[in-house]
Amino acid sequence: MPPHHTYIETHLGGGNVLERKRPADRNIGVDISGSVIATWSERRRRLAFPLELARVDAVEFLKAFAFDGGELVYCDPPYLHSTRRRLDLYEHEYTEAQHVELLETIVTLPCPVIISGYASPLYRMVLQDRHGWRCIEFPNTTRRGRVIESAWINREPTTLHDSRYAGATYRERERIKRKRARWSRRFMAMSAAERQVVLDALLDLAPPPAPVLATCHRSADPTAGSDGIAGDARAPGPTATGAEAQTASQVCTGKST
Ligand SMILES: C[S@@+](CC[C@H](N)C(=O)[O-])C[C@H]1O[C@@H](n2cnc3c(N)ncnc32)[C@H](O)[C@@H]1O
Repeated sequence: MPPHHTYIETHLGGGNVLERKRPADRNIGVDISGSVIATWSERRRRLAFPLELARVDAVEFLKAFAFDGGELVYCDPPYLHSTRRRLDLYEHEYTEAQHVELLETIVTLPCPVIISGYASPLYRMVLQDRHGWRCIEFPNTTRRGRVIESAWINREPTTLHDSRYAGATYRERERIKRKRARWSRRFMAMSAAERQVVLDALLDLAPPPAPVLATCHRSADPTAGSDGIAGDARAPGPTATGAEAQTASQVCTGKST
């Protein structure tokens, strides 16, 4: 995920991604289902980060939100009917026309966007062929058994919001984690003066990251008037689950914008 100050997860459902990623300064969960929002209103009391909730149609929310470019939008809509066996999984399903409207909305957003689902001619045509989004395929185990899921992203991140997930495959992520632990141990074994020398050297190598966009236009904010913010403590989210960790990403097109 690219760095972001505001995380917007539409089609929140069980919020699997929201719960695992490192929280942003501002976190917004959107779902049209009253029962999903009621569950999260209760659940967010136990979260270590603030979560705003909006019970509204995802497209309506995205069209009304005042973006400044520093957000990350993640959409996980109900799967296209043509890509699945059971058609009655959710209280609120999505018609093909709703998928088209969602895709046409997200391609206009001025910030990084990720959308997940099963591969389909519609998603390929709109996202990959027309707008050059990158598609990443990854195996997952669901009630259907072993399936290949896809995620589409509109821009290639050069730095990551959450460095715990650096690496394209499970093996690579584990190698990077071991390296991090090794380097941390060595660093902590140094004297204070040595540490200062190493830090200075690293800062000389890498220019400081560009400042994060700080402006947040709240005036036209569609969450205004919905449930408020529960607490403001910050804490990193839990580490990757087995399911996430087994994910082996692979790029299925090389196109990027
Ligand atoms: C695939 S599930 C999301 C799964 C979720 N990412 C998770 O980790 O459990 C789809 C969700 O989309 C919601 N939904 C359906 N139609 C919607 C709409 N028009 N706007 C917003 N959310 C909608 C459903 O209520 C459901 O919670």
